[in-house]
Amino acid sequence: MSEFKQLVFSGVQPTGNLHLGNYLGALQRFVALQDTYECIYCVVDLHSLTATLVHDDLAEQTRAIAAAYLASGLDPKKNIIFNQSRVPQHAELAWIFNCVARIGWMNRMTQFKDKAGKDRENASLGLLAYPSLMAADILVYRATHVPVGEDQKQHLELARNIAQKFNNDFSEHIATHGYGVEMEVGEERVNGFFPLTEPLIEGPATRVMSLRDGTKKMSKSDPSDLSRINLMDDADTIARKIKKAKTDPEPLPGDVGGLEERPEAHNLVGIYAALAGTTVQEVIRDYGGRQFSEFKPALAELAVEKMAPINAEMRRISADPGYVDGVLREGGERAGAKAEETMKMVREIIGLLDN
Ligand code: TYM
Repeated sequence: MSEFKQLVFSGVQPTGNLHLGNYLGALQRFVALQDTYECIYCVVDLHSLTATLVHDDLAEQTRAIAAAYLASGLDPKKNIIFNQSRVPQHAELAWIFNCVARIGWMNRMTQFKDKAGKDRENASLGLLAYPSLMAADILVYRATHVPVGEDQKQHLELARNIAQKFNNDFSEHIATHGYGVEMEVGEERVNGFFPLTEPLIEGPATRVMSLRDGTKKMSKSDPSDLSRINLMDDADTIARKIKKAKTDPEPLPGDVGGLEERPEAHNLVGIYAALAGTTVQEVIRDYGGRQFSEFKPALAELAVEKMAPINAEMRRISADPGYVDGVLREGGERAGAKAEETMKMVREIIGLLDN
Protein backbone atom coordinates (compact mmCIF):
# COMPACT_ATOMS: atom_id res chain seq x y z
CA MET A 1 0.00 0.00 0.00
CA SER A 2 1.25 3.45 -0.79
CA GLU A 3 2.06 6.01 1.90
CA PHE A 4 2.34 9.77 1.57
CA LYS A 5 5.72 10.81 0.29
CA GLN A 6 7.63 12.62 3.03
CA LEU A 7 7.64 16.32 2.30
CA VAL A 8 8.43 19.35 4.45
CA PHE A 9 6.57 22.65 4.10
CA SER A 10 6.87 25.82 6.12
CA GLY A 11 6.35 29.55 5.78
CA VAL A 12 7.20 32.92 7.28
CA GLN A 13 5.15 36.11 7.02
CA PRO A 14 6.73 39.16 5.42
CA THR A 15 5.80 41.51 8.24
CA GLY A 16 8.58 43.53 9.84
CA ASN A 17 12.06 42.43 10.71
CA LEU A 18 12.88 38.84 11.40
CA HIS A 19 14.21 38.27 14.90
CA LEU A 20 16.23 35.64 16.70
CA GLY A 21 13.03 33.71 17.59
CA ASN A 22 12.17 33.33 13.92
CA TYR A 23 15.73 32.31 13.18
CA LEU A 24 16.14 29.72 15.95
CA GLY A 25 12.53 28.47 15.94
CA ALA A 26 12.18 28.28 12.17
CA LEU A 27 14.95 29.24 9.71
CA GLN A 28 17.76 27.34 11.42
CA ARG A 29 15.47 24.28 11.55
CA PHE A 30 14.57 24.66 7.85
CA VAL A 31 18.27 24.56 7.00
CA ALA A 32 18.81 21.45 9.12
CA LEU A 33 16.02 19.61 7.28
CA GLN A 34 17.14 20.34 3.73
CA ASP A 35 19.64 17.48 3.69
CA THR A 36 17.18 14.78 4.70
CA TYR A 37 13.85 15.88 3.22
CA GLU A 38 12.41 17.34 0.09
CA CYS A 39 11.41 20.83 1.30
CA ILE A 40 9.20 23.70 0.21
CA TYR A 41 9.73 27.05 1.95
CA CYS A 42 7.30 29.86 1.33
CA VAL A 43 7.07 33.58 2.06
CA VAL A 44 3.40 33.82 2.97
CA ASP A 45 2.55 37.26 1.61
CA LEU A 46 -1.21 36.68 1.51
CA HIS A 47 -1.18 35.99 5.25
CA SER A 48 0.31 39.39 5.89
CA LEU A 49 -2.89 41.04 4.60
CA THR A 50 -4.96 39.57 7.43
CA ALA A 51 -3.84 42.00 10.16
CA THR A 52 -2.74 44.99 8.02
CA LEU A 53 -4.31 45.30 4.61
CA VAL A 54 -2.26 48.11 3.12
CA HIS A 55 1.54 47.84 3.28
CA ASP A 56 3.90 50.42 1.84
CA ASP A 57 6.59 47.92 1.08
CA LEU A 58 5.12 44.43 0.85
CA ALA A 59 7.28 43.50 -2.15
CA GLU A 60 10.41 44.66 -0.30
CA GLN A 61 9.46 42.73 2.83
CA THR A 62 8.80 39.63 0.73
CA ARG A 63 12.24 39.89 -0.85
CA ALA A 64 13.80 40.44 2.59
CA ILE A 65 12.37 37.16 3.94
CA ALA A 66 13.54 35.32 0.84
CA ALA A 67 16.99 36.89 1.32
CA ALA A 68 16.96 35.71 4.95
CA TYR A 69 16.14 32.17 3.80
CA LEU A 70 19.06 32.21 1.40
CA ALA A 71 21.44 33.93 3.85
CA SER A 72 20.61 31.32 6.52
CA GLY A 73 21.84 28.64 4.14
CA LEU A 74 18.82 27.34 2.24
CA ASP A 75 19.83 26.14 -1.19
CA PRO A 76 17.34 27.33 -3.85
CA LYS A 77 18.21 24.41 -6.13
CA LYS A 78 17.65 21.77 -3.50
CA ASN A 79 14.52 23.38 -2.01
CA ILE A 80 11.59 25.17 -3.53
CA ILE A 81 11.59 28.80 -2.34
CA PHE A 82 8.76 31.07 -3.45
CA ASN A 83 6.12 33.55 -2.37
CA GLN A 84 2.61 32.30 -1.74
CA SER A 85 0.64 34.70 -3.96
CA ARG A 86 2.43 33.41 -7.08
CA VAL A 87 0.65 30.11 -6.68
CA PRO A 88 -3.08 30.88 -6.70
CA GLN A 89 -3.91 27.28 -5.83
CA HIS A 90 -3.18 28.17 -2.17
CA ALA A 91 -6.08 30.63 -2.17
CA GLU A 92 -8.29 28.24 -4.12
CA LEU A 93 -7.80 25.42 -1.64
CA ALA A 94 -8.20 27.87 1.25
CA TRP A 95 -11.67 28.71 -0.04
CA ILE A 96 -12.59 25.05 -0.06
CA PHE A 97 -11.18 24.68 3.46
CA ASN A 98 -13.26 27.67 4.56
CA CYS A 99 -16.24 25.52 3.72
CA VAL A 100 -14.77 22.48 5.52
CA ALA A 101 -13.66 24.24 8.74
CA ARG A 102 -16.24 25.35 11.32
CA ILE A 103 -16.45 28.89 12.66
CA GLY A 104 -16.19 27.50 16.20
CA TRP A 105 -12.76 26.03 15.41
CA MET A 106 -11.51 29.41 14.21
CA ASN A 107 -12.99 31.27 17.17
CA ARG A 108 -10.99 29.08 19.53
CA MET A 109 -7.59 29.99 18.05
CA THR A 110 -5.57 31.87 20.68
CA GLN A 111 -3.70 33.81 18.02
CA PHE A 112 -7.00 35.08 16.59
CA LYS A 113 -8.18 36.08 20.05
CA ASP A 114 -4.89 37.89 20.75
CA LYS A 115 -4.75 39.67 17.41
CA ALA A 116 -8.44 40.56 17.20
CA GLY A 117 -8.38 41.92 20.76
CA LYS A 118 -11.59 43.18 22.31
CA ASP A 119 -13.19 44.38 19.10
CA ARG A 120 -13.64 41.02 17.39
CA GLU A 121 -16.51 42.21 15.21
CA ASN A 122 -14.11 44.60 13.58
CA ALA A 123 -11.36 42.06 12.79
CA SER A 124 -11.05 41.12 9.12
CA LEU A 125 -12.71 37.94 7.96
CA GLY A 126 -9.24 37.00 6.69
CA LEU A 127 -7.84 37.11 10.23
CA LEU A 128 -10.49 34.63 11.34
CA ALA A 129 -9.88 32.39 8.32
CA TYR A 130 -6.07 32.66 8.61
CA PRO A 131 -5.57 29.04 9.77
CA SER A 132 -7.58 27.79 6.83
CA LEU A 133 -5.13 29.44 4.39
CA MET A 134 -2.29 28.02 6.46
CA ALA A 135 -3.78 24.50 6.16
CA ALA A 136 -4.09 25.07 2.41
CA ASP A 137 -0.42 26.12 2.18
CA ILE A 138 0.60 22.81 3.64
CA LEU A 139 -1.97 20.49 2.13
CA VAL A 140 -1.88 21.81 -1.43
CA TYR A 141 1.46 19.91 -1.51
CA ARG A 142 0.14 17.13 0.74
CA ALA A 143 3.14 17.90 2.96
CA THR A 144 3.77 15.49 5.82
CA HIS A 145 6.05 17.54 8.12
CA VAL A 146 5.97 21.19 9.16
CA PRO A 147 8.84 22.77 11.15
CA VAL A 148 7.57 25.71 13.22
CA GLY A 149 7.98 27.38 16.59
CA GLU A 150 5.76 26.46 19.51
CA ASP A 151 3.31 29.33 18.81
CA GLN A 152 2.07 27.63 15.62
CA LYS A 153 1.14 24.32 17.25
CA GLN A 154 -2.56 25.10 17.57
CA HIS A 155 -2.78 26.12 13.92
CA LEU A 156 -1.23 22.82 12.89
CA GLU A 157 -3.72 20.88 14.99
CA LEU A 158 -6.42 22.73 13.12
CA ALA A 159 -4.82 21.77 9.79
CA ARG A 160 -5.07 18.14 10.88
CA ASN A 161 -8.74 18.63 11.77
CA ILE A 162 -9.43 20.13 8.37
CA ALA A 163 -7.61 17.28 6.59
CA GLN A 164 -9.49 14.71 8.64
CA LYS A 165 -12.89 16.27 8.01
CA PHE A 166 -12.22 16.56 4.27
CA ASN A 167 -11.07 12.91 4.20
CA ASN A 168 -14.20 11.79 6.07
CA ASP A 169 -16.75 13.96 4.29
CA PHE A 170 -15.46 13.02 0.83
CA SER A 171 -14.39 9.45 1.63
CA GLU A 172 -16.69 7.91 -0.97
CA HIS A 173 -15.68 10.37 -3.68
CA ILE A 174 -12.03 9.84 -2.83
CA ALA A 175 -12.49 6.08 -3.15
CA THR A 176 -14.44 6.39 -6.43
CA HIS A 177 -11.54 8.23 -8.01
CA GLY A 178 -8.95 5.93 -6.43
CA TYR A 179 -7.16 8.89 -4.84
CA GLY A 180 -6.96 7.54 -1.29
CA VAL A 181 -3.61 7.00 0.38
CA GLU A 182 -3.06 4.69 3.36
CA MET A 183 -1.67 6.28 6.47
CA GLU A 184 -1.13 5.45 10.08
CA VAL A 185 -3.16 7.44 12.58
CA GLY A 186 -2.28 6.37 16.11
CA GLU A 187 -2.75 2.60 16.18
CA GLU A 188 -5.03 2.56 13.15
CA ARG A 189 -4.42 2.52 9.44
CA VAL A 190 -6.81 4.77 7.60
CA ASN A 191 -7.29 5.91 4.04
CA GLY A 192 -7.52 9.56 3.02
CA PHE A 193 -6.61 12.16 0.45
CA PHE A 194 -4.82 14.62 2.73
CA PRO A 195 -2.11 13.55 5.19
CA LEU A 196 -2.45 14.41 8.88
CA THR A 197 0.61 16.59 8.97
CA GLU A 198 3.16 16.23 11.78
CA PRO A 199 4.44 19.40 13.40
CA LEU A 200 8.22 19.45 13.92
CA ILE A 201 8.68 21.62 17.01
CA GLU A 202 12.18 20.68 17.98
CA GLY A 203 15.39 21.89 19.58
CA PRO A 204 16.15 24.11 22.59
CA ALA A 205 14.58 27.30 21.14
CA THR A 206 11.02 26.49 20.05
CA ARG A 207 9.79 29.47 22.06
CA VAL A 208 12.35 32.24 22.34
CA MET A 209 11.24 34.79 24.92
CA SER A 210 11.60 38.56 25.13
CA LEU A 211 14.96 39.76 26.46
CA ARG A 212 13.07 42.21 28.68
CA ASP A 213 10.52 39.76 30.11
CA GLY A 214 11.11 36.01 30.15
CA THR A 215 7.37 35.30 30.33
CA LYS A 216 6.58 37.02 27.00
CA LYS A 217 7.37 35.65 23.56
CA MET A 218 10.03 37.46 21.53
CA SER A 219 7.95 39.14 18.88
CA LYS A 220 8.05 41.56 15.96
CA SER A 221 5.26 43.59 17.51
CA ASP A 222 6.86 44.26 20.91
CA PRO A 223 7.26 48.07 21.12
CA SER A 224 10.68 47.71 22.79
CA ASP A 225 13.46 46.98 20.32
CA LEU A 226 15.58 45.87 23.30
CA SER A 227 13.20 42.90 23.70
CA ARG A 228 14.52 41.20 20.59
CA ILE A 229 17.60 40.63 18.48
CA ASN A 230 16.83 41.41 14.86
CA LEU A 231 18.50 39.55 12.04
CA MET A 232 19.68 42.90 10.71
CA ASP A 233 21.22 44.11 14.03
CA ASP A 234 24.95 44.80 13.87
CA ALA A 235 27.47 43.23 16.25
CA ASP A 236 27.47 46.14 18.72
CA THR A 237 23.68 46.19 18.93
CA ILE A 238 23.52 42.44 19.52
CA ALA A 239 26.12 42.66 22.30
CA ARG A 240 24.37 45.66 23.89
CA LYS A 241 20.96 43.97 23.87
CA ILE A 242 22.36 40.84 25.52
CA LYS A 243 24.17 42.93 28.12
CA LYS A 244 20.92 44.72 28.94
CA ALA A 245 18.82 41.51 28.93
CA LYS A 246 16.80 41.06 32.11
CA THR A 247 18.13 38.42 34.52
CA ASP A 248 17.74 37.48 38.17
CA PRO A 249 20.57 37.94 40.70
CA GLU A 250 21.37 34.21 41.17
CA PRO A 251 24.20 32.41 39.34
CA LEU A 252 23.17 29.80 36.75
CA PRO A 253 21.92 26.60 38.41
CA GLY A 254 23.94 23.39 38.56
CA ASP A 255 21.19 21.34 36.89
CA VAL A 256 18.44 21.85 34.33
CA GLY A 257 15.68 21.54 36.92
CA GLY A 258 17.01 24.72 38.54
CA LEU A 259 15.93 26.72 35.47
CA GLU A 260 12.26 25.97 36.00
CA GLU A 261 11.16 29.02 37.96
CA ARG A 262 13.68 31.28 36.25
CA PRO A 263 12.24 32.28 32.85
CA GLU A 264 14.97 34.78 31.92
CA ALA A 265 17.81 32.40 32.79
CA HIS A 266 16.03 29.57 30.98
CA ASN A 267 15.59 31.71 27.89
CA LEU A 268 19.23 32.81 27.68
CA VAL A 269 20.49 29.27 28.21
CA GLY A 270 18.08 28.01 25.52
CA ILE A 271 19.30 30.67 23.10
CA TYR A 272 22.92 29.74 23.83
CA ALA A 273 22.19 26.05 23.26
CA ALA A 274 20.39 26.67 19.96
CA LEU A 275 23.11 28.99 18.65
CA ALA A 276 25.84 26.53 19.64
CA GLY A 277 23.92 23.58 18.17
CA THR A 278 23.91 21.80 21.52
CA THR A 279 21.47 21.14 24.37
CA VAL A 280 20.40 23.02 27.50
CA GLN A 281 21.99 20.19 29.53
CA GLU A 282 25.37 20.77 27.88
CA VAL A 283 25.23 24.51 28.47
CA ILE A 284 24.38 23.97 32.14
CA ARG A 285 27.25 21.52 32.38
CA ASP A 286 29.64 24.22 31.15
CA TYR A 287 28.14 27.26 32.85
CA GLY A 288 26.31 25.91 35.93
CA GLY A 289 27.27 27.95 39.00
CA ARG A 290 28.63 30.87 36.93
CA GLN A 291 27.34 34.42 37.23
CA PHE A 292 25.53 36.24 34.44
CA SER A 293 28.47 38.64 34.34
CA GLU A 294 30.44 35.72 32.88
CA PHE A 295 27.68 34.04 30.91
CA LYS A 296 26.35 37.12 29.11
CA PRO A 297 29.65 38.05 27.40
CA ALA A 298 30.04 34.43 26.27
CA LEU A 299 26.50 34.47 24.88
CA ALA A 300 27.06 37.83 23.18
CA GLU A 301 30.25 36.55 21.55
CA LEU A 302 28.50 33.41 20.31
CA ALA A 303 25.48 35.37 19.02
CA VAL A 304 27.71 37.78 17.11
CA GLU A 305 29.81 34.92 15.72
CA LYS A 306 26.69 33.11 14.42
CA MET A 307 24.56 36.05 13.37
CA ALA A 308 27.12 38.40 11.79
CA PRO A 309 27.77 36.18 8.73
CA ILE A 310 24.02 35.79 8.16
CA ASN A 311 23.56 39.52 8.49
CA ALA A 312 26.37 40.19 6.00
CA GLU A 313 25.04 37.60 3.56
CA MET A 314 21.54 39.07 3.81
CA ARG A 315 22.90 42.49 2.91
CA ARG A 316 24.88 41.03 0.01
CA ILE A 317 21.88 39.13 -1.38
CA SER A 318 19.47 42.03 -0.84
CA ALA A 319 21.72 44.27 -2.94
CA ASP A 320 20.69 42.17 -5.95
CA PRO A 321 16.86 42.14 -5.96
CA GLY A 322 16.92 40.69 -9.47
CA TYR A 323 18.56 37.55 -8.12
CA VAL A 324 16.01 37.18 -5.31
CA ASP A 325 13.11 37.75 -7.72
CA GLY A 326 14.55 35.08 -10.02
CA VAL A 327 14.71 32.57 -7.16
CA LEU A 328 11.08 33.31 -6.22
CA ARG A 329 9.90 33.15 -9.82
CA GLU A 330 11.56 29.81 -10.48
CA GLY A 331 10.40 28.44 -7.13
CA GLY A 332 6.88 29.62 -7.92
CA GLU A 333 6.89 27.70 -11.18
CA ARG A 334 8.01 24.50 -9.51
CA ALA A 335 5.56 24.93 -6.63
CA GLY A 336 2.71 25.82 -9.00
CA ALA A 337 3.13 22.60 -10.97
CA LYS A 338 2.94 20.52 -7.80
CA ALA A 339 0.00 22.47 -6.39
CA GLU A 340 -1.94 22.09 -9.63
CA GLU A 341 -1.50 18.30 -9.50
CA THR A 342 -3.23 18.25 -6.12
CA MET A 343 -5.93 20.73 -7.14
CA LYS A 344 -6.87 18.74 -10.25
CA MET A 345 -7.64 15.81 -7.97
CA VAL A 346 -9.40 18.01 -5.41
CA ARG A 347 -11.66 19.50 -8.09
CA GLU A 348 -12.51 15.99 -9.31
CA ILE A 349 -13.18 14.72 -5.78
CA ILE A 350 -15.52 17.63 -5.08
CA GLY A 351 -17.16 17.52 -8.51
CA LEU A 352 -16.11 20.94 -9.80
CA LEU A 353 -16.09 20.96 -13.59
CA ASP A 354 -12.51 21.45 -14.73
CA ASN A 355 -12.05 20.38 -18.32
P1 TYM B 1 5.48 33.87 11.62
O1 TYM B 1 5.80 34.62 10.37
O2 TYM B 1 4.83 34.61 12.74
O3 TYM B 1 6.78 33.21 12.22
C1 TYM B 1 7.66 32.44 11.41
C2 TYM B 1 8.21 31.27 12.20
O4 TYM B 1 8.93 31.75 13.35
C3 TYM B 1 8.47 31.07 14.50
N1 TYM B 1 8.58 31.96 15.66
C4 TYM B 1 9.23 31.66 16.79
N2 TYM B 1 9.93 30.56 17.16
C5 TYM B 1 10.50 30.58 18.38
N3 TYM B 1 10.41 31.64 19.25
C6 TYM B 1 9.74 32.75 18.91
N4 TYM B 1 9.66 33.78 19.74
C7 TYM B 1 9.10 32.80 17.63
N5 TYM B 1 8.37 33.73 16.98
C8 TYM B 1 8.06 33.20 15.78
C9 TYM B 1 7.03 30.72 14.20
O5 TYM B 1 6.55 29.66 15.01
C10 TYM B 1 7.11 30.34 12.74
O6 TYM B 1 7.53 29.00 12.59
N6 TYM B 1 1.36 31.30 10.53
C11 TYM B 1 2.79 31.34 10.35
C12 TYM B 1 3.21 31.36 8.91
C13 TYM B 1 2.62 30.30 8.05
C14 TYM B 1 2.99 28.92 8.06
C15 TYM B 1 2.20 28.31 7.05
C16 TYM B 1 3.88 28.18 8.80
C17 TYM B 1 1.68 30.46 7.09
N7 TYM B 1 1.42 29.26 6.48
C18 TYM B 1 2.29 26.94 6.78
C19 TYM B 1 3.98 26.81 8.54
C20 TYM B 1 3.19 26.21 7.56
C21 TYM B 1 3.32 32.60 11.00
O7 TYM B 1 2.63 33.58 11.15
O8 TYM B 1 4.63 32.56 11.29
